[in-house]
Amino acid sequence: MLSSKRLICLSLLVVYSFAFTDYLLKKCGESGFCNRNRFYSNNILNSKNNYYSLDETSLNFDSNSNILYANVIKTIPSHQITTDNDTISHSNEELKITLPITISMLDSAVRFTMDEARSERHDVLEDFSSDLLSIQRYNETSNWSFDPKNNIPIEKFLKFNQLKNIVEISNEDESIKLNVYQDQFKIEIFYKGKLAMVLNDRLFLNVEHLRNEDDNDLNLLPEESSFNSFEDNFQYSKDDTLPFGPESVALDFTLIDSTHVYGIPEHADSLLLKDTSGSEPYRLYNVDVFEYNLDSKMPMYGAIPLLIGLHNDDTHQDNQFVSGVFWNNAADTWIDINYNNDLQNTKTHWMSESGIIDTIIFFTNSPLELSKKFTDLTGKPALPLLSSIGYHQCRWNYNDELDVLTVDSEMDRNHIPYDFIWLDLEYTDDRKYFTWKPNSFPNPKRLLQKLQRLGRNLVVLIDPHIKNDYPISNEMIVNDVAVKNHKGTPFIGICWPGKSLWIDTFNQLGQKIWNEFFQKFLYENVNNLFIWNDMNEPSIFDGPETSAPKDLIHSGGFEERSVHNVYGLTVHESTYESVKQIYSKSDRRPFILTRSFFAGSQRTAAVWTGDNVATWDYLRMSIPMMLTNGIAGFPFIGSDVAGFSGDPEMELIARWYQAGMWYPFFRAHAHIDSKRREPYLFNEPLKSIVRDIIQLRYKLLPTLYTLFHESSVKGVPIVTPMFYNKPQYKELYSIDDQFYMGDSGILVKPIVEKKVEQTEMIFTPGIYYEYYSLTPMIIDELKWETIITPLNRLPFFIEGGHIITTRDKYRRSSLLMQNDPFSLIVAPSMNGAAQGKIYLDDGNTFEYLTEEYLDFEFEMINGNKIIGKLNHLPKNLEKIGNLSINKIIIAKGQLAFNQETVTIKQNDSTFTCAIINEENRLVILNPGINLINDWEIIF
Ligand SMILES: *[C@@H]1O[C@H](CO)[C@@H](O)[C@H](O)[C@H]1NC(C)=O
Ligand SMILES: *[C@@H]1O[C@H](CO)[C@@H](O)[C@H](O)[C@H]1NC(C)=O
Ligand SMILES: *[C@@H]1O[C@H](CO)[C@@H](O)[C@H](O)[C@H]1NC(C)=O
Ligand SMILES: *[C@@H]1O[C@H](CO)[C@@H](O)[C@H](O)[C@H]1NC(C)=O
Ligand SMILES: *[C@@H]1O[C@H](CO)[C@@H](O)[C@H](O)[C@H]1NC(C)=O
Repeated sequence: MLSSKRLICLSLLVVYSFAFTDYLLKKCGESGFCNRNRFYSNNILNSKNNYYSLDETSLNFDSNSNILYANVIKTIPSHQITTDNDTISHSNEELKITLPITISMLDSAVRFTMDEARSERHDVLEDFSSDLLSIQRYNETSNWSFDPKNNIPIEKFLKFNQLKNIVEISNEDESIKLNVYQDQFKIEIFYKGKLAMVLNDRLFLNVEHLRNEDDNDLNLLPEESSFNSFEDNFQYSKDDTLPFGPESVALDFTLIDSTHVYGIPEHADSLLLKDTSGSEPYRLYNVDVFEYNLDSKMPMYGAIPLLIGLHNDDTHQDNQFVSGVFWNNAADTWIDINYNNDLQNTKTHWMSESGIIDTIIFFTNSPLELSKKFTDLTGKPALPLLSSIGYHQCRWNYNDELDVLTVDSEMDRNHIPYDFIWLDLEYTDDRKYFTWKPNSFPNPKRLLQKLQRLGRNLVVLIDPHIKNDYPISNEMIVNDVAVKNHKGTPFIGICWPGKSLWIDTFNQLGQKIWNEFFQKFLYENVNNLFIWNDMNEPSIFDGPETSAPKDLIHSGGFEERSVHNVYGLTVHESTYESVKQIYSKSDRRPFILTRSFFAGSQRTAAVWTGDNVATWDYLRMSIPMMLTNGIAGFPFIGSDVAGFSGDPEMELIARWYQAGMWYPFFRAHAHIDSKRREPYLFNEPLKSIVRDIIQLRYKLLPTLYTLFHESSVKGVPIVTPMFYNKPQYKELYSIDDQFYMGDSGILVKPIVEKKVEQTEMIFTPGIYYEYYSLTPMIIDELKWETIITPLNRLPFFIEGGHIITTRDKYRRSSLLMQNDPFSLIVAPSMNGAAQGKIYLDDGNTFEYLTEEYLDFEFEMINGNKIIGKLNHLPKNLEKIGNLSINKIIIAKGQLAFNQETVTIKQNDSTFTCAIINEENRLVILNPGINLINDWEIIF
């Protein structure tokens, strides 16, 4: 959250206008290492010179770890150096730089790393000796991105064969084979016998090795430039001391037979990534981008460096597979993408400012499996509190206790369910986190207890910038856990509270001190207070690109430059651990919202898309942004409904709630300068439209919670792109305005345009039932259909073949629904088949990890039988709530139903039950069955 207030904060610092202005951010040409790597890649394409080769004598296969170690040697040949004014030229001696590499096989993936043996560089080392900085390249990104709970199985090499100029490697089942070329270092990767990817195909491999500024010319290859190697002349980062000079790493990957690539959030851009030739590369650099630009490759708040490629070999239809390139580097990173449609190959070029090359390349047969593999490595999304997938009401700001309790009771009076209410910045005493404004919130515990009666929760904002000079920041200084400036003293920058310090949560001591702050702030027994970590990119008002100077120093002597994109994760993960520990007596799952994120953030947080604007374009963009995060392993995402800044018109609010009810994280939020817009304040018909939509979200909670659980086990998206579920249809590859909800069969296309009362949706063959009427629509072959959508309707279908569960009665909160019975909606396929499932647990604690959950499956067979099958029963049934089914709705579709009763068998008893035969549907009321025992319904 950033505001016009920022104008005040910044008035003396930089001129800053209200809307987001790109000039604050570097373009590739203004970024030293991006400029240099693009320059190098252009030149090397022409010269085709090779400077990197594998030293075959260094090959060393460690059979304990199953890792192949070797050295790649970078050779800078003796060559003439011509200076800018063309008058002086001289030559250098040949220089050899050792770059240790590793190659290992993970479960259907290849890991390749490349470091620089800086400690061997006796020629220059002493010029870089420092008490403050580690000389090593930062290689601990995986400490944060990989799931610490997961012991990644490293497969044995089946083959490790050294031929002349080629080392052949393959995994156990030989599904993945590598050819590593020695003289001209490159790696070809074959998946199922077919060339799938080439690393260093275009010779863009570039490791800018350690050198003295004085000798920079001697260390440059003829294809390289020295642009901003030891200085930064970008207007807002001129103070960067660049202690190691140029140290970027870059590599190209060619995806063979792939014409569609996705991923690398966060960008406000289409799901299908765009070609970057002749324009800016996509940039991953976590920054605060208030009112960010749309349809843009500019960096945003978070970074997940995972690129997903669909591979189709047109000559063999079933030869379809998916690859994933995970570039495990937390530094400022740019990615160029070139589609080459003639050759059916996609070329990518990855450039990071520092750190090592650490890349994991996945191959799977389907997109869903790719999400699974990626989250095997980086961790599954946490299963959230059931209440946190309800509705969240937020505003900057609810001013005091009375304000909060008034919103609370007005929601109830107007039959609008909600579970979370939020306090932004201003609840604090003078923007000092871990305090409450004394007059406005004199008794926070009392407020929490009042909310707790209906199972409701409060979230407050706590950011990593800590106001200078109060007990909390003093504690940080005493314990030496503040991020330091390049001179090694605590860094002071400007943020909301004015002069501030930043907690260093890379440090175990920093994590411990952060935890102690929460120990004093949270209540062990009143466990409905949760935390929002905002501004954790980090956002620094007087910092370069509104963020941290890259020469700040973190624990371990690593520069901000190398760890930047993972900082936010260290903060929210540390916050999560603190909350978890404090609530451990009641075993309550924490809820943490973060703005900044990296690969792995899904393990502990939810995220939102930051400071959007109440316009139709931001509504439209929220959908591809959500889809992209979902396929990159971090599905618990939403956008501020109905736009953070500005005052949305009635129609936009209605459409935004209709889209927002599908966001995994469903929160309304508004800027301090906008008019109050709690839904009960709206005039009719808007108030009823919004109330009904929020109630619909609550009805669907059993289905949504089942999808969240599925995602927490498999890492699959919740809101799912069309092509993910139906990769066989190329027509779906660029669809990013309609989506499935996981594998539930729910198919939605929110309206994101003004004055639109009908829309075109694409359908694959099958039968689809419009949700409200259950009117069937039969599709023989893939086609577009016109769907009529007045303001009180959204295009919402259930695809034939699915059974979903709902809880239909309005209740004030998710907790109060737990005593209500379930309904089933059966949507048969053309031949009368349908399947569904429900996952339930207490929605609250970690007991589900010790078998305390219920797993029940439904199936319709041949249109004349529905069976219910129990897969898992918890020991403590009463904690899970009501398990009876009191309504079954069957979409009639194509099937001929003419009986008046059905036969129901549960346990050993058999009884009959009346069918109510309505237009489009059959209804069975009170069938007397439940989710505890198997049953059958026979028509
Ligand atoms: C050429 O440039 C070099 C350094 O870039 C400088 O030392 C030298 O004086 C220049 N020579 C002339 C003739 O300008
Ligand atoms: C990082 O490099 C150091 C020094 O070479 C090594 O000891 C350490 O194991 C590496 N850490 C990781 C996570 O690879
Ligand atoms: C990172 O992981 C490596 C290898 O697992 C370990 O040796 C190192 O201590 C870890 N670093 C931190 C800061 O925890
Ligand atoms: C579950 O719901 C049914 C139907 O409303 C009701 O008859 C039953 O008493 C409820 N059971 C529990 C345990 O609340
Ligand atoms: C059905 O059988 C199970 C044991 O198989 C028993 O626990 C349960 O009470 C029975 N339910 C009914 C409704 O009879």
